[in-house]
Amino acid sequence: MSEMKKFKHVIEGQQFSRDDLDDLFAIARDMEKKPVRNDLSGKVLITLFYEPSTRTRLSFEAAMEHLGGSVISTENAANFSSAAKGETLEDTIRVVSGYGDVIVIRHFESGAAKLASSVSSIPVINAGDGTGQHPTQALLDMYTIQKEVGHIDGISIAMVGDLANGRTVRSLAYLLGKYANIRIVFVSPENVKMRDDIKEYLSRHNVKWEESSDLEATARTVDVVYQTRIQRERFSSIEEYENTRGIYVITKETLDVMQKHAIVMHPLPRVDEIAYEVDTDPRAAYFRQAHNGLYIRMALLSSVVS
Ligand code: CP
Repeated sequence: MSEMKKFKHVIEGQQFSRDDLDDLFAIARDMEKKPVRNDLSGKVLITLFYEPSTRTRLSFEAAMEHLGGSVISTENAANFSSAAKGETLEDTIRVVSGYGDVIVIRHFESGAAKLASSVSSIPVINAGDGTGQHPTQALLDMYTIQKEVGHIDGISIAMVGDLANGRTVRSLAYLLGKYANIRIVFVSPENVKMRDDIKEYLSRHNVKWEESSDLEATARTVDVVYQTRIQRERFSSIEEYENTRGIYVITKETLDVMQKHAIVMHPLPRVDEIAYEVDTDPRAAYFRQAHNGLYIRMALLSSVVS
C-alpha cells in the first residue's frame, strides 16, 4: 500500500501540500481496490457530533469498521453528552481522548476542532466547524474531480449557492490553491457571497477567480459546477432565508448548456437547489462523490492512527 506522512491532526485545508494530496489519493485508490482490511484492528474511533450529519459521521464510522477497528459515538453530542450539563469542550476532549485512538468532531462553532486538538492526546479530525472548514469533504471533492474529470490542474469550477456560510467551499478553495491554472467562478446571492479571506488567499496563490450572477453563462464554460445548499440554520431570520433560496437552481436547462465532460457536484444534503430531474444524467456526480467519502476517510484514518 502507498505510504503517507502521518498527520497529528486534520483541521484545515491549508495544512495539506500537493504531495500530501497525491499520497492520500493513492491510498484511497488502494482502499477502493481492497475495502475490507484489518489495518486498524484493536483501534477505536470516537465520533462527537454537535451538529446533524448523515454522510460524514456514517462514512467515518463505516471507514473504521472497514479497517477492522471499532467505533464509540454520541451522535447528538449537544444534547446527549455532558455538554448538556455545562461541561466545556476542552474537558470533554481531555476525557474522551483517554477512551480511543482518534476523535472525529463536528461542532457548531468555527475553531472548535482546532481548540479540541490543542487539548487532545490523540489525533483530532475536523468533520465541520460552524462556518469555518470541512477539510475531509474537500479532500473527497478533490478526489472526485480527479477521478471524474481526469485532472485537477487547469480546471475551471463554478462554486454556486451559499458561499458565505458554506464550509465545504472554503476548504475546497484552499485545496484548489495548491494546483496550477485553476479558475473559480463564484455564483451566489448578494447576501451570501464568498468571504474576502478566501478571495485574498486565492489571489496570493495565483488562482484566477471572478464573481458572476449568471449561472447559465458560467455553466457553459466550466468543468465542474459545484452547487451548495442555502443553509437555513445559519440565517438569523426565516424571511432572509426565504429571500435567498431558490435563486440559483441546477435544472435540465443547466445540463443542456454544460459541456459533455463537465460534472455537477454537491456536498449534500440537497434541498431544492438541484432539480431531481438532474439525477439521471451521467454528469450528476454527487452520489458518486458521497461514496468516495468512504475511501478518502479510510485513507485519512489509516494515516493519522498509529
Ligand atoms: N456533506 C456533509 O457534510 O454531509 P453531512 O452533513 O450529512 O455529514
